[in-house]
Amino acid sequence: MSTDILKGKKGIIFGALNEMSIAWKVAQKAHEQGAQFVLTNAPIAMRMGEINKLAEETNSEIIPADATSVEDLENLITKAQEILGGKLDFILHSIGMSPNVRKKKHYTDINYEWYKTTLDVSATSLHKTLAIAKKQDAINDWGSVVALTYIAAQRIFPDYGDMADAKSLLESITRSFGYHYGVDKKVRINTISQSPTVTTAGSGVGGFDKFISYAEKMSPLGNASAEACADYCIAMFSDLTKYVTMQNLYHDGGFSATGVTNDIMDMM
Ligand code: NAI
Repeated sequence: MSTDILKGKKGIIFGALNEMSIAWKVAQKAHEQGAQFVLTNAPIAMRMGEINKLAEETNSEIIPADATSVEDLENLITKAQEILGGKLDFILHSIGMSPNVRKKKHYTDINYEWYKTTLDVSATSLHKTLAIAKKQDAINDWGSVVALTYIAAQRIFPDYGDMADAKSLLESITRSFGYHYGVDKKVRINTISQSPTVTTAGSGVGGFDKFISYAEKMSPLGNASAEACADYCIAMFSDLTKYVTMQNLYHDGGFSATGVTNDIMDMM
């Protein structure tokens, strides 16, 4: 149902790879709510071509950018403003990738070159995006930036590997940059900490099937879906959440506040 909650707002959506991607759902809902935006992803991810369907459906253009490349990001932010005809109101950072997790390197024996890549792709890319946006003065006052994170930043989930470190850094950048961008331009920056969700990135984590059932049973409301996550992102981009900034917002059906549930106790 459209209430045009984002009418007139312009943005950039990172990370829509296929129909399962959380960013894909955010793009569909942002379009439904009257926003205009540019879609972006790593050039290599675009070879699969699925993003073209989303661009057509949401009447948006695609600008390829490797989120680790300052040059690509500068080009993206400049071009997005040209295409959209003005400054941005929202950015979704929905990017994560760990070569160590992909190649099943144990956390205690990681490859440090890959570790740099994990941190660069999954966390530093947010800093780079914000720094370039700030230098170009590309975001309107009260604009909203959301990055997606996971509770492994606060608690150990053994198979999440070095992505846990990346998510901690991502949340720290959110606070630190949120302060500076807030003071200077009233731009707000938050992370949404989402339930485990069946997507390409999610399914790369070892034992994901078992883990998703565990989280389901450990969450009073059950796991939050990708669609519900997209709804929360839309709310965060809207003017109804203007004074929320520098927060890590749990969107997890209550998982983060639960010690144990009867469902889990019954299984013991
Ligand atoms: P996804 O696999 O659909 O999205 C990850 C995206 O990152 C892909 O579009 C991929 O192309 C992009 N990406 C990777 N390297 C890149 C680079 N160098 N430059 C630009 N883009 C790059 O999976 P999903 O689950 O939608 O992931 C989105 C975000 O949600 C990630 O930050 C992930 O960590 C986070 N998240 C996912 C959860 C899950 O269980 N699926 C749970 C909590 C958070």
